[in-house]
Parts: sequence; structure tokens; C-alpha cells
Amino acid sequence: MIGITSEMSKGGSLLYERVAGEITGLVEQGTFRAGDKLPSLRQLSRRFDVSINTVMQAYALLEDKRLIQARPQSGYYVRSRVPEIRESLLPGGPVNTPTTVTISELCHQIMHNMMNRELLPLGSAIPSSQNLPIDKLNRIMAGELRRLGEQGILYQVPGYERLRVQIARRSLAAGISSGPDEILVTSGCVEAVFLALRTTCRSGDTIAVESPFYFNFMQMIAELGLKALEIPSTPRDGISIEALRYALEQEKISACLVITNFSNPLGSLMPEERKRELVELLARHEIPLIEDDIYGDLTFDNERPTTAKAFDREGRVIYCSSFSKTLAPGYRVGWAIAGRYQAEMERLKMIMNIAPASPPQLALAEFLATGGYDHHLRSIRRTHARNITQMADAVARHFPTGTRMTHPAGGFILWVEMPEGIDAITLYHRALEEQISIVPGPLFSLTAKYGHHIRLSAAQWDEKIEQGIRTLGRLASELLARKIPGRA
Ligand SMILES: Cc1ncc(COP(=O)(O)O)c(C=O)c1O
Repeated sequence: MIGITSEMSKGGSLLYERVAGEITGLVEQGTFRAGDKLPSLRQLSRRFDVSINTVMQAYALLEDKRLIQARPQSGYYVRSRVPEIRESLLPGGPVNTPTTVTISELCHQIMHNMMNRELLPLGSAIPSSQNLPIDKLNRIMAGELRRLGEQGILYQVPGYERLRVQIARRSLAAGISSGPDEILVTSGCVEAVFLALRTTCRSGDTIAVESPFYFNFMQMIAELGLKALEIPSTPRDGISIEALRYALEQEKISACLVITNFSNPLGSLMPEERKRELVELLARHEIPLIEDDIYGDLTFDNERPTTAKAFDREGRVIYCSSFSKTLAPGYRVGWAIAGRYQAEMERLKMIMNIAPASPPQLALAEFLATGGYDHHLRSIRRTHARNITQMADAVARHFPTGTRMTHPAGGFILWVEMPEGIDAITLYHRALEEQISIVPGPLFSLTAKYGHHIRLSAAQWDEKIEQGIRTLGRLASELLARKIPGRA
């Protein structure tokens, strides 16, 4: 039963510590578990018969101890207890040597499995349809096609103007001032990045990327005959500017490709100052920055983070994004704001496929103008934040001791580092036998790194997913026990 004795309430300055102790007890007993919302300040003040200020102090103390976390305009939540990965994940010297990419059959198979609806999607970075406004989008799409008639079947080059106006308006929140004419609508963010690479690099060139890095871009780099130079990255700050500076002195680099906000797979958020430093450093070397900001709107904070493009004074940053993580991956609507590279990217886009499909552009333009996008974002951010805490807690309970993971402040991806004895690719195959799909760490590097890491997706959280995490933890423990006899 909750209650602070009157003796305690006489405890003067330590009163808030006692309240904090009571709350800690409730968490330890499992009354409130990771991801659960804690009672409001008012409720606890009444319950413990103390002032709201005392409860606030107690919550602040528990925040310092990392037992709970505040979410703006939402309240206080129990944190997950899994140890956090903070340092750079790339072992060895500051910079590796550029590597030619070899596309493995495994990578292709894993991408296929990510789309296989028969499998439990524990690895795929696709938003859950449960969290997307499907009915609303369907209604809007039907209405737009009826209302606009031929606009739905004609080419929209360089994209439907009303959509480009909406994107230009929304870009202000990301620190980008651009006119609709500076926006090129693409078939998803992937095409925007592809066009950017084609525009800025020639076969044999070297491109600097974060490590670990989104595997689909690794394939793209390979297809274009480019070499990737992996720069260490931390879950907290993203790509190391210091290592990149060093690399720029050692190697001829043609472009740099970075996911600045809630990167895939680390979930890192580059602080504003680092974004500025990155842009200035590359500008000094006259090197273009390709910025992927596909997760930027999925912050757990009230305000979305700024972008590197916001600091671009010379038009050298090619900003790329899409609605695939927030509204409709299947619509295939993305965009680029490419500065000095805009004309060349438009030319290439025209050669490749003229224009993206028109109907999804009409629907998204109307949704952005009238559909309550901000309301939708608030809801999906809350859901992801809760899912991430719950998944992290489940990993803490079911995976072998020594497992660590990232604590992202946005997006819905978790990067899990298991004890070294566990081979992530073997775990991937074992999980498939149990109808579970995950993405093993080695896909995120070109040089056999991250062999005991996996990427998990917290886009969805329910009993089935929890059961999947339990199974995965058991499989990981079995693999470890085989490696270290005597360990259960
Ligand atoms: C960092 C990043 N960029 C791009 C994409 C794909 O974007 P789109 O579906 O808009 O082409 C993904 C999907 O996982 C991603 O994680």
C-alpha cells in the first residue's frame, strides 16, 4: 500500500528522498514497470500528503538516478534498466581504410524477410500500420482523385506543386528556408539519396559514411561502384567530426552521407553544434554533404531537431527525406532539397523515371494541409517512446547478462550489443526457424564488424512481440552457453 507515515513527513529536508524511496519501491515490486506512466504530481501529493514541490523534487532525484524519465507534456515514465551503449562502436584507429562493397546473398534474403508478413517483424525499420492514419489517408486519396480529375493521372514534374509548398512550410521547423521550386519530389528517400550519390560521385570515388550504417545505402554505394570509408559514430552524438577531419586529411573523399537525426541503426541525434561543425568542415574542403533526415519528425521531444541543412550557406548540403516513417511507406513519396546540385538531380530523375506517381502526392498534399499531421506525429511519437522503453526492458529481462543497447530519443530502432560469444548471423538463422526476423549487425558494416550486434524495431509492441523477444533472448542464451560451457 502506498503511504508515507507521519513520522516520515516530519523528516524535513529529506522528505522528498523518502517519497523517492517509496516510488523506487513501487518500481522494484513491479507495480510500475519500464514504460509505465507514473502517477501525476497532484495524485502523489495527495497520496503521500506532501506538497507538489516535494513530489517534483522526488521525481527530479529519480531522473538523476536514471530510474525514471520525463516526457514533455506527458508526464513521468519508468525507464528501462538495460545498460546503455555510449561510446564509439568502431574498434581500432580513428578511421578505417576505404572498402569496396560486396553485396551478399544474405543481405538480399534479409531484406526479403523483413517484408515477409508471415514472420514476426522484430528487425524491420517499417512503421507499424497500427500507428498510421490509414483510413484518413484512404478517404483523402479517394476525395482528391474525384475532385482533381486529370491531375491524378498527369506527370507532376518536379513534383506536385501543392505538395512542394506544404513541404517547404514544414521544412521551417527543421531550420530550412526554401521555396517550393527548390524541392524535388522523389520516389522515397532512397531515390533522393541515390540521385545525390549519382550527382556528386563517379565510379571508384570514396564516400565517407557513419559506422554502423544503414545497410541499404551500403548496397547502393556498391551498385554505384563507390568505396565506403567508415567513420566511427557514437549513439549519443553520431558521426565523429574529429575522425572525419582526420580522414579528410588522409583520403580523397567525394561526398559524406550522414543520417543526422535518430540514425539507422544507432538512433544517434547529432547535437546542433556538431551539425554546424560538420557542415563547416565539409564546406572548407568543398565536399558535398548528403543528409538523410527521414527520422527527424519522430523525436520524443515537443520540437523536432534541426538539420545540417539549416547551417548550409553554400548550397553544398543535399537534404533528403520522405513520408515513409511517418505516414505511408508504400506511397513512395520523398524529396530532396539539393542546393547547387538541384538541376543535375532533376535531370537524372527525369532520365530515370520522369516523376513519382501522382495520386500519392495529391493525397499527401491534402493530408499535410488539412489532415492533422502534427496531431498524428504527437501520437506516433508517444507510442514509439513507450514501445522503446518496453522493448528495452524486455531485452534486459530475457537476454544474457552483459547485453547493452542504445537509448534513442526518437525513431523506433534499437541497436543491441550482446556478449561477444553470440554470433548475430547464427542468431538470425535460429530466429528464422522460430518465424522471427531480425537484422544482424554485420550488415551494417563492410568489414565484418558488429558480429554480436542486432537491430531491433520497436515500431509495434504487443504480447506477440514480447513473446518474440523472450524467444530471441532464449536463443541468444543458448548460443552463449554453447560457446561458454557451464553457462546457462
Ligand atoms: C535512414 C533511412 N533512409 C531511407 C530509408 C528508406 O526510405 P524510403 O522508404 O522513403 O525510400 C530508410 C528505411 O529504412 C532508412 O532507415
